[in-house]
Amino acid sequence: MQFVEANGARIPAIGLGTWELRGRICSRVVEQAIRLGYRHIDTAQVYENERDVGEGIHAARIRRDEMFVTTKVWTTHFAPHNLERSVKESLTRLRMTEVDLLLLHWPNPQVPLEETLGALAHAKQMGLTRHIGLSNFTVALIEQAVAACPEPLVCDQVEYHPYLDQTKVQGACRQNGLATVAYSPIAQGNVRGDETLSDIGKAHGKSAAQVCLRWLVQQGAVAIPRTSKVERLSENIDVFDFMLSETEMSRISHLAHPKGRLTDYGFAPKWD
Ligand SMILES: NC(=O)c1ccc[n+]([C@@H]2O[C@H](COP(=O)([O-])OP(=O)(O)OC[C@H]3O[C@@H](n4cnc5c(N)ncnc54)[C@H](OP(=O)(O)O)[C@@H]3O)[C@@H](O)[C@H]2O)c1
Repeated sequence: MQFVEANGARIPAIGLGTWELRGRICSRVVEQAIRLGYRHIDTAQVYENERDVGEGIHAARIRRDEMFVTTKVWTTHFAPHNLERSVKESLTRLRMTEVDLLLLHWPNPQVPLEETLGALAHAKQMGLTRHIGLSNFTVALIEQAVAACPEPLVCDQVEYHPYLDQTKVQGACRQNGLATVAYSPIAQGNVRGDETLSDIGKAHGKSAAQVCLRWLVQQGAVAIPRTSKVERLSENIDVFDFMLSETEMSRISHLAHPKGRLTDYGFAPKWD
């Protein structure tokens, strides 16, 4: 496993996404993932699966300090007293005393950013999380957050795959020592059957999804692909034994197009 170092955090470069996984399937996939070598699991309050994720991690009987667990605070809990309470509830559901990384799930202009960041930093100081970070923050919001946060931020988790150009956000992350964590890293499954990725994969004996994930980690990003299928767990982590050439990397970057974004909501910020 490769790690990405960011402002004191050491993040396993591939993690398991768990959005939409619930109940026994979720626990089983998490447990199997750990048995197959995953050391990083991504959940969120709003996924309503923290209890199942915790169950899977405990069932795998791995030492807690070998795991990197991320959860995200939902935007309705951004007022300082709500944030602390909601994180304690997350920890109860996960059956943990701390998470490794706690993120603000989306920017929320309804609550002053300084107040929310103060509460996020306080959660770290109280030992509820080892590291703190952002999700769905734009360049301007990253700059604002870094300037206002009393503790170092370690990442911005954003949608990132070959169909979406994230050069600007990645630049802002790099400048501030933040890791870029790619969500929907295989474009919610859309990379399957992509001609360019499959073609490049043939030369390396790899699938389109593996080429896509390799393209992300080779840039220094973290990727958190989700699957509900145990056989795909091994496929998605088996990306550390080959290298893409500069030409191949650039061919993949050229797949980006203006309509490549998959996740957008009315409450989303104005994207870069
Ligand atoms: N911060 C945020 O706002 C935010 C937003 C979205 C997602 N996320 C996080 O990022 C994680 C990943 O993103 P995502 O779930 O949107 O999408 P994704 O990981 O890009 O894609 C998941 C989809 O791809 C399929 N798949 C998985 N492995 C495959 C493979 N090797 N070949 C072909 N298809 C494959 C899965 O189907 P099967 O289950 O059938 O394998 C599933 O339908 C989420 O689970 C969540 O943890 C965060």
